[in-house]
Amino acid sequence: MKVRMAFFAVAGVITASALFTAVNAQPSFQEAPAPTTKTVWDGVYTQAQADRGKAAYGQNCAACHGDDLAGMEMAPPLTGPNFMSNWNSLTAGALFERIQNTMPLTNPGSMSQATSADILAYVLSANKFPAGKVELPADALPLKTVKILAQKP
Ligand code: HEC
Repeated sequence: MKVRMAFFAVAGVITASALFTAVNAQPSFQEAPAPTTKTVWDGVYTQAQADRGKAAYGQNCAACHGDDLAGMEMAPPLTGPNFMSNWNSLTAGALFERIQNTMPLTNPGSMSQATSADILAYVLSANKFPAGKVELPADALPLKTVKILAQKP
């Protein structure tokens, strides 16, 4: 009995250290792109969420990016070919973090994650990606599994 316990204890230590090594062996663990399983063409936000986002956009973003997201003077557009070429093949999570961490430019980080997700839904709808039945999550991690593709795959 004692021998078997010892065996399991040793096996446990080996497994734990193997896992530890596996995690550590990936030096750019943070930067590694998350596996993408969906694209913005798959109906990843709801119309109701985009409508909430439109209101929040009006309060927090329109003064600089324009009512129609076309950009104004210093602030770039959030629709159209230039915007899409900046974000094509990146993830919705990266755009979510850009919004959540750096915007509004005058007060970054002031919005809740839920508000940033609503605004992201509005930005997706303004770029003519289809609405679906499930809201965008208010969390960068799952959003990193959603790929932004300018052209329908
Ligand atoms: C005070 C003016 C101002 C406000 C308000 C503002 N922005 Fe910006 N935004 C800018 C400027 C200027 C840039 C470009 C410089 C930079 O990258 O920071 C920018 C860049 C961006 C970009 C990157 C665009 C690209 O092509 O990659 C996104 C996305 C964005 N803003 C979203 C938002 C959202 C969403 C809001 C509202 C929550 C918002 N911004 C509010 C001024 C503003």
